Amino acid sequence: MNKQTIVGVLGAGSMGSGIAQIASTQEHQVVLVDLNDDALAKAEASLKKILARLVEKEKINEAISKSIIGRIKFSNNVNDFSDCGIVIEAIIEKLEVKQQVFTQLEKNVNDDCILASNTSSLSIASIASACEKSDRVIGIHFFNPAPLMPLVEIIPAVQTAEETKNTARTLIDSWKKVTVLTKDTPGFIVNRVARPFYGEALKIYEEGIADFATIDWAMTELGGFRMGPFTLMDYIGNDVNYTVTETVFGAFYYDPRYRPSFTQKRHKEAGWFGRKNGRGFFDYSEGAEKPEPNKDEELGAEIVNRIVVMLINEAADALFLNIATREDIDLAMTKGVNYPKGLLAWADEIGLANVLKQLEDLQTEYGEDRYRPSPLLKRMVAANKTFY
Ligand SMILES: NC(=O)c1ccc[n+]([C@@H]2O[C@H](COP(=O)([O-])OP(=O)(O)OC[C@H]3O[C@@H](n4cnc5c(N)ncnc54)[C@H](O)[C@@H]3O)[C@@H](O)[C@H]2O)c1
Repeated sequence: MNKQTIVGVLGAGSMGSGIAQIASTQEHQVVLVDLNDDALAKAEASLKKILARLVEKEKINEAISKSIIGRIKFSNNVNDFSDCGIVIEAIIEKLEVKQQVFTQLEKNVNDDCILASNTSSLSIASIASACEKSDRVIGIHFFNPAPLMPLVEIIPAVQTAEETKNTARTLIDSWKKVTVLTKDTPGFIVNRVARPFYGEALKIYEEGIADFATIDWAMTELGGFRMGPFTLMDYIGNDVNYTVTETVFGAFYYDPRYRPSFTQKRHKEAGWFGRKNGRGFFDYSEGAEKPEPNKDEELGAEIVNRIVVMLINEAADALFLNIATREDIDLAMTKGVNYPKGLLAWADEIGLANVLKQLEDLQTEYGEDRYRPSPLLKRMVAANKTFY
């Protein structure tokens, strides 16, 4: 594939329009299809606004802005994908709908067109199974906002051909993205490894150890994370974040490590989704006062340690199960969700024996399988090894 390759994007929502913007900025002709004309009009208007801002900030000039929008064909007709070399699907996150769409898509494209899904939580194998030529199907998972977040997870299914994988990865690399290769398992890398960032923070709150503001203060000020867990959940939306947690929990056959939290469930049920509707863990209405954190350094360090060792345990277990390489696991968390450090490098810094001891203490105290240390950590400590 090269710049002459026409890129198709199905679904003109937040992800689809972002992907279309990237591909067009990289000088591809783009066909952006949505069945809903309002969604198309909205995507076009918001893209023009984004480009105008980039011109204002002198990141691009007027001519480039015009050419980016000019290369995108906004369409409500999937037949317009007929000359595409790749089509990236970014429609609603429902397996039955995606399967129907992929079966149909295959009839609208040429024989060697790659069909990719931007799904966050569905199995690529099950989406690919809807196609006759399932070896052309692959997961290409962008992060929100796609034009700004450098990371893209590349997820071959069991059916995916080696050539599909290599072509797709080379293409996305050429778009100046950081690609990581991951196995087709629930949550891929980022949405699997990041679960304790939310789950353990919620547990710490539920036990009454600290309130939302204090946990967020500890994680940002002491832990170096860009956003605290509760601010981030409010930003993602408690409806969306809770559903991802529940999906990952089910997909892992109810492993207690991934168990969702009642606190978040109740917030979701109350309609307290977060920023988008003015109320989540925090109140975003006008004039609302931000709660003050308890800036007790000792308490803060305890919170950060507990969440970070749980994150490290997930990262180590992902490596143990060959979900991705050591480098890709660390890159995924720094480039996909802006973690201050790669978790495996961080583990080396803290000391693996120290990490293991904290996990074992938690497991003893709670008697829960949730805190079981990854066998890889145990083996590495026994062999006195480090990740790097
Ligand atoms: N939002 C995120 O943070 C994020 C991040 C990574 C991946 N994803 C994944 O990307 C996909 C899209 O998410 P989104 O947030 O952009 O959704 P969205 O709701 O903003 O947009 C979905 C768009 O798809 C269109 N659509 C629905 N069914 C269609 C069909 N059959 N044919 C054509 N268009 C159709 C809708 O009209 C809508 O415009 C989902 O699979 C989601 O899991 C989302």
